[in-house]
Amino acid sequence: MTLTSITTIEAFRAVLAAYRLPRVIVTALELDLFTAIAARPWSIAKLAETLDVNERGLDILCRNLAMCGLLKKRGNLYRNSPFAATILNAKHPKYRGAYVELMKSHWTDWSQLTQVVRSGRPVDHDEPEAPGYRRQFTWAMHHRSVDVAARVARQMNLSRVGTLLDLGGGPGTYAMAFLSRHPKLKATICDRPAALAVAKEIAERHKARKRLIFLPLNFMEEDLPGQYDLVWCSNVLHIYSPDANQALFRRIISALSPGGRLVIQDAFLHDRQGLYPEEASLFAVSMLLFTERGNTYSLRDTARWLKAVGYVKIRPIKMKQGTEDWDGGLLEAARPA
Ligand SMILES: C[S@@+](CC[C@H](N)C(=O)[O-])C[C@H]1O[C@@H](n2cnc3c(N)ncnc32)[C@H](O)[C@@H]1O
Repeated sequence: MTLTSITTIEAFRAVLAAYRLPRVIVTALELDLFTAIAARPWSIAKLAETLDVNERGLDILCRNLAMCGLLKKRGNLYRNSPFAATILNAKHPKYRGAYVELMKSHWTDWSQLTQVVRSGRPVDHDEPEAPGYRRQFTWAMHHRSVDVAARVARQMNLSRVGTLLDLGGGPGTYAMAFLSRHPKLKATICDRPAALAVAKEIAERHKARKRLIFLPLNFMEEDLPGQYDLVWCSNVLHIYSPDANQALFRRIISALSPGGRLVIQDAFLHDRQGLYPEEASLFAVSMLLFTERGNTYSLRDTARWLKAVGYVKIRPIKMKQGTEDWDGGLLEAARPA
């Protein structure tokens, strides 16, 4: 993880000017450029005609997209890189459109930060419960996590786990990754009904779908039915306030079998001042923009809350560097046996 330390005008300029390449990419996405290019080479003149844009504008845009590796340039022709031809191409089966759209929309949302800091209120978004918004967001979460979930599942020790609850599991990407690796495991995905509808669609094509249960529930207001050997709670903590999270930890401990484990995955802060990793500090800004009370939290504070509720054996789980969702982003705690 890079640390940004701005001590000179040059460093200040470099950090501030970092919006330029993202802006170039957002424009390419707004023009559906990668989908138009698809699998063949294009001259600027032909591509400008197809996209109905100015030739000089497109020339400079494409040169920059080639400079950062999203396009390949040979002579006067441009084609997609293998990444852009698949992940960014709406006509390709590997397209991660829902997540790409979410990232694209952040450009406008982040432009409202000053107003959000002034008012303390999040940007005017659809209600979290609105089914249309929830469906789009849940697909985005699947497109975001499908690779990392497989990597994390490979490294998690679930040898003695018979039942797993994926709390706030959304599309169920993690639950299904765990099921793929453990033939005797049964998993329950708990989330809002609109999120579970997406999880069910994804599960239809999953070989372990018969070992999957769907639990529609508002876990901030209702107790969790059943008992589980492991509760997996990924990317939920940052949505809520410290008080709400402690109340959730209480609900979870009642749903764990004796000796059962809670594993939390989140953008934890690691240093004493609560500044790093950089990604975890910046993610708090997203929570300011999109939630009423969300934030990112230190590993130390989270461990303290878990201890206060009665959890034992609280410890971070180490994964191979670069394979996790977040740098040092896993914390485990157990219900006393
Ligand atoms: C950021 S997503 C994380 C999805 C998945 N766990 C992952 O790590 O990719 C958070 C999920 O928690 C769900 N969620 C948040 N608060 C909830 C609540 N009170 N009741 C049920 N689901 C909730 C959301 O609907 C969403 O699917």
